[in-house]
Amino acid sequence: MPNDAFGHSQPNSRSRALCTPDATEADVATRGFSTRAIRTGQDPCSATGATIVPVFQTATFTQDAVGVTKGYDYSRSGNPTRAALEAQLADLEGARFGCAFGSGMAAANGASFSFLRAGDHVVATKDLYGGTHRLFSDVFSRYGIETTYVDMCDLAETRAAIRPNTKLLWVETPTNPLLRIIDIAGVAALKRPGLIVAVDNTFATPYWQRPLELGADVVMHSTTKYLSGHSDVVGGIVITNDPALHAQIALHQNAVGAVPGPWDAYLTLRGAKTLALRMREHEANAHAVAHFLEARDDVSAVYYPGLASHEHHELAKRQMRGFGGIVSFRVRGGAERALEIARSMKIFNLATSLGGVESLVCSPWTMTHGSVPEARKIELGLTQELLRLSVGIEDIADLLTDLGEALDRTARLTLVA
Ligand SMILES: Cc1ncc(COP(=O)(O)O)c(C=O)c1O
Repeated sequence: MPNDAFGHSQPNSRSRALCTPDATEADVATRGFSTRAIRTGQDPCSATGATIVPVFQTATFTQDAVGVTKGYDYSRSGNPTRAALEAQLADLEGARFGCAFGSGMAAANGASFSFLRAGDHVVATKDLYGGTHRLFSDVFSRYGIETTYVDMCDLAETRAAIRPNTKLLWVETPTNPLLRIIDIAGVAALKRPGLIVAVDNTFATPYWQRPLELGADVVMHSTTKYLSGHSDVVGGIVITNDPALHAQIALHQNAVGAVPGPWDAYLTLRGAKTLALRMREHEANAHAVAHFLEARDDVSAVYYPGLASHEHHELAKRQMRGFGGIVSFRVRGGAERALEIARSMKIFNLATSLGGVESLVCSPWTMTHGSVPEARKIELGLTQELLRLSVGIEDIADLLTDLGEALDRTARLTLVA
């Protein structure tokens, strides 16, 4: 397998260097989601017969003669465990190319900075993940790259923000933490030559939403979340079908070197095999939690795209195959009650992050969006009585009991407010 122009060994996305592909492209295209999650890039090892992709815990690869390799020369440039993960996740998004990174933020950087230069302009959704906001506002701005934040649910506002030097439209949908839905096809229709549409698909996962099929050019994920699924590894991936864009991302991946180690790649590969099973459970539990909260008088608002009351429910139904596992809500009783609920829950852990099998609760105000200026948080509706739940796959009766008890325990604070 030859290295590409960047010295970056990138096997065909549907095979691995040490494996003999057992399926033709046509076979692969007709396979179902879980078959691909379990099989793509994961043929038995032709050298040893290992059924499961090994952890190739090596920094370098011995050459047969100078420049004669078996497809890999150095693990920053390419590693067989990482290549299997890149093939698997690219296939789940219906794409040919994937580049894995050492975190979701490294992937966000790869999915944006790879294409940008001084003087370029970015249009981004205004209620995006706090870390991405920090990357665009505090880092890119120092390199002469300006970002305009718009309400991307409003396509007219998005169109009006596009300038002659706009290079990138950055979409995150569902948004974090209010679960608003942006019309990906509508944003993609605003494209003109040279303008790239990138989507952070972390919340939905390719099981529920495939942005490339809706006209996006690039998809990225924090694989820390649902794709690895067990809250035991930090990682990211950038995926595209466009060979020219892939070449730019691959150059960035190799040049900057923010790659995952083989063990982290292995954990993510293993976790992603059960993505479909987990997502169905997350969603069933999230539906039950959302309905439970909606029925309570001491909860003033519930945000879940699967609820008929959600402002973008119809768009979510069109664009997504399911609604995911995140539910946000506002409690009556203000910040004090919200913090007390978050602190006192017994099954929902008070922790940043989402997408693991275990349920988590967080206060976006201080936790996920702590780096966003206060005035901006208030403008976005991220006030202190808002809580975000990452609904896990524990037994639903236990989750509802935990929620109900935390709400009941703090009910006295409703009267004070
Ligand atoms: C939507 C979204 N994108 C990107 C990231 C960044 O990912 P990581 O923490 O893996 O760097 C996060 C993390 O919470 C996220 O929620």
